[in-house]
Amino acid sequence: MTELIVKKLNKRFGGLHVLKDVSFEIKGAELVGLIGPNGAGKTTLTNVLDGAIQPNSGTVYLNHHRIDQMQPFEVAKVGLGRTFQVTRSFRRMTVLENLYVPAQALGTKLSKAEIHDKSMEVLEFLTMDHLRNEYAQALSGGQQKLLELGRLLMLNPEVIILDEPFAGVHPKLMKIIYKYIERVNQSGSAIILISHQMDSIFSLCNRLLVLNYGDLIADGPPDDVKNDPHVIEAYLGIDEEEAE
Ligand SMILES: Nc1ncnc2c1ncn2[C@@H]1O[C@H](COP(=O)(O)OP(=O)(O)O)[C@@H](O)[C@H]1O
Ligand SMILES: [Mg+2]
Repeated sequence: MTELIVKKLNKRFGGLHVLKDVSFEIKGAELVGLIGPNGAGKTTLTNVLDGAIQPNSGTVYLNHHRIDQMQPFEVAKVGLGRTFQVTRSFRRMTVLENLYVPAQALGTKLSKAEIHDKSMEVLEFLTMDHLRNEYAQALSGGQQKLLELGRLLMLNPEVIILDEPFAGVHPKLMKIIYKYIERVNQSGSAIILISHQMDSIFSLCNRLLVLNYGDLIADGPPDDVKNDPHVIEAYLGIDEEEAE
């Protein structure tokens, strides 16, 4: 069973203390929402978990591997993947090539033909098979987000962090992202979903973490968190437009 153990993480940027003793655990295929105001530290936490930046103190273990001092490609090999708030596809490669890359780069056991078949299956799921030979840079912002999600599927990570997957996405594509989240979760991956869209958070997640300027102020079932006075004061009191 997947086990992510985050213990007393601290991250400072100069004088700015962005993560303050953040601790939580995820066991099994949980679907956890991570919410909090802009600047709360959600993306920074994601960057620490995936190895893009290193914490000043604290530890992260994924399935008994210590990952807080690893590089992102090593963390990906252990089984944690993430998407970016601002997408990062290989713009001058085709859609299909973008899917080949993660599987090839991380030394999968799949043959070339198997990687191709899997890529095609992923594209069909994302309803993007007709775009397979387009350059990534020709895609709309929403399609680039889908492509990033597709690249994650190629690696079957045990833990997936989605950093604002719905932001700026057309409602039609949102539906696909919903299905995607349900699919990867049902296949056994744990998901951390960062979003300001409370409808999505409450309909998808069975647990919420609330980050407020570096402090994890709540961790529990959505209904409890929704009624927590600290959370209402810090975050849920403001309307969604403000939060975007
Ligand atoms: N590389 C960095 N250098 C300096 N400050 C940063 C850096 N990355 C993030 N910050 C600051 O850390 C705080 C948290 O940012 P972030 O993690 O992006 O928040 P969120 O994703 O919750 O909106 C913000 O005040 C932001 O300006
Ligand atoms: Mg962010």
